Amino acid sequence: MVEIRKINSKKDFKSNSLVSIEQFSVKALDIFLKRAGNIKKNPKKYSGVAEGKVLYSIFWANSTRTRVSTETAWLKMGGKIVTVVGTQDSSIQKGETLEHTLQMYAGYQPDFIALRTHIPFIPGFAAENFPQISWINCGDGSNEHPTQALLDLFTLKQRFGELKGLKIGFVGDIKHGRTVKSLAKLLKLYEVKMKFIAPASLHAQEELSEQGIDYQVGKIENLKKEILDLDVIYSTRPQLERMDKEDKQKYQNGVYQIDKKTLGKTKALIMSPLPIDSKIKPEIHPAIDKDPRAIYFEQAANGLWARMSIFSLLIGE
Ligand code: NCD
Repeated sequence: MVEIRKINSKKDFKSNSLVSIEQFSVKALDIFLKRAGNIKKNPKKYSGVAEGKVLYSIFWANSTRTRVSTETAWLKMGGKIVTVVGTQDSSIQKGETLEHTLQMYAGYQPDFIALRTHIPFIPGFAAENFPQISWINCGDGSNEHPTQALLDLFTLKQRFGELKGLKIGFVGDIKHGRTVKSLAKLLKLYEVKMKFIAPASLHAQEELSEQGIDYQVGKIENLKKEILDLDVIYSTRPQLERMDKEDKQKYQNGVYQIDKKTLGKTKALIMSPLPIDSKIKPEIHPAIDKDPRAIYFEQAANGLWARMSIFSLLIGE
């Protein structure tokens, strides 16, 4: 039986579910980081790890990177996949509950179910109620995105080596996004200095302070100055689809856009979970894509190695 347990050693990974980043200790993260680094250097070594195993890739909510890198990671390790994208072709349209749907999927006994939902806490619910399967939370509403935080951590490790004392500024929609919340919980463990730079209506000070995070508020009006001495700028898009009417009205298009002028002489590297929203004034100006400080494509590509690392450890390799 699988239960959602804390991960503190290599054996704790085996047959576990990954629903929250809070499951990890620093020791577990170090195991994950080391494995991801080894796989990046020598991916062939893990090519047979998932042979004979089945993954259900259930993405009820939109995804570009997470689904494709999760599935590619699995295929590169020799596993088989059933993919469900959206709910439009399923019996959810006929009124079947998410609970019954998940129970059905679990009943067919895949080894893993990677799940993305609009609604928070569904992956945790699934892991608790159907513990014979290893569930992987691939983003649950505005709650968490643990595999993204792991790939972000891997990217920081690869770039900086030592994480203690790094200065990172989160710029954007902290309140409705899930990536910053998961990553901040991890970085706390490494004593990274975090600053949160957002319009007043898009902070999550209370929620993150409750998690023991030292929530330093940066002034959005002084964005250029705020980012000058940072090692990393972590930009996130305004999550317009999750804002209520009031937050939407308050949101000023482009209020925290990062462009060449804002960046000025800062040496900070620019990360983003992506996507960048091109339907509004993009939160990262398109010219930044080619700036050597921008590492968000490298970061996204690291998702493959991070997810291979996670799968192989959960399999018990
Ligand atoms: C993010 C997500 O879905 O939470 N993207 C991702 O998974 N890489 C970020 C976002 O949608 O803003």
